[in-house]
Amino acid sequence: METYKNYSLKELNSFNLNVRAKIFSIIRSIKDVRELLTMDCFQDNRHLILGEGNNILFTKNFDGLIIRPGIMDFKVIKETAGYVTIKAGAGNNWNAFVAICMARQYWGLENLSLIPGSVGSAPIQNIGAYGVEAKDTIELVEGIDISTGELLRLSNNECEFGYRSSIFKTSLKDKIMVTSVHFKLSKYPNPKLEYGPLKERFKDNPSPDIFSISTFIIETRMSKLPNPDKLGNAGSFFKNPVIPLEEFRGQEDLHPGMPHYPAGDGLEKIPAGWLIEQCGWKGKRLGNVGVYPEHALVIVNYGNATGREVFEFSEKIRHSVKEKFGIRLEREVVVV
Ligand code: EPU
Repeated sequence: METYKNYSLKELNSFNLNVRAKIFSIIRSIKDVRELLTMDCFQDNRHLILGEGNNILFTKNFDGLIIRPGIMDFKVIKETAGYVTIKAGAGNNWNAFVAICMARQYWGLENLSLIPGSVGSAPIQNIGAYGVEAKDTIELVEGIDISTGELLRLSNNECEFGYRSSIFKTSLKDKIMVTSVHFKLSKYPNPKLEYGPLKERFKDNPSPDIFSISTFIIETRMSKLPNPDKLGNAGSFFKNPVIPLEEFRGQEDLHPGMPHYPAGDGLEKIPAGWLIEQCGWKGKRLGNVGVYPEHALVIVNYGNATGREVFEFSEKIRHSVKEKFGIRLEREVVVV
């Protein structure tokens, strides 16, 4: 385990904010976690578990202990003719992990190519894109109960996955440190082409190879979403609001052409990007902060913004959407 004081988080938050942590610790094994739990720096400070910092907005320095899971293993733990189960350590980079699975022709994660972040963060917010969510392939999540040091194994069902949500964001929030995730992947080609642009791209080829799908996803992401290494951002800042069908009908009468997608159980999902664009925010910049010109759901740091500025800017957007549509946007990004 490595522990540092007054540690810069500039490289560890994708908004590229210049913030520091009072204490910063990297854990490399379950033994490290258990050791850390007994240490004064853990007992005497509030703590935060931080993956690669792609979904977080620091509004100030963190006056406590930041724990970075650095468990890096990758193991095939079960294999049949059709499936393989992989155990991947929480510290693995998500995109690198996806690339290894694809190189071995293990299907299931290709639509999630190029999502920034770590394997350990994937189940927490149930990352999703282009018609696939992490929950579709997660079999089991292993983590340490921070109050007891006990290793817990939660099945897919026990993780209570939802849209950008899981039990790790609700009743087990801040109680479990995810140490590894088990993914069940198909050894047979299993393309998931339901998302509109994918369906269109492969309409003449219903059986594309894994890399053709991944390449299309990567190109799509790169055309719409800014690269955090060049322009600080945390992907979608807000979740897409989900409202009852009846309420949606009322919205549609007032705002003809409002896009929407069925979200099951008599609910409709409305793209927050559309709501924000309709309020005139797309491409708008105030000082150091702005809305990305190619995608209204992404807030960017043009260089020297503070976390406070980004937060205040996001609240202005929220306020506009509430005023115009009466819809309350919920943040996807975690504000600290
Ligand atoms: N739209 C606009 N203006 C915009 C952007 C979008 O009107 O500037 C409307 C359009 O109607 C468009 C629709 O929003 O058809 C959907 O846009 P997009 O396909 O880009 O998807 P999204 O709903 O904005 C979600 C995820 C993304 C994920 C994409 C692709 C959330 C909060 N975001 O975005 O995930 O990559 O779908 O599947 O669910 C992330 O979570 O950080 C993220 C980038």
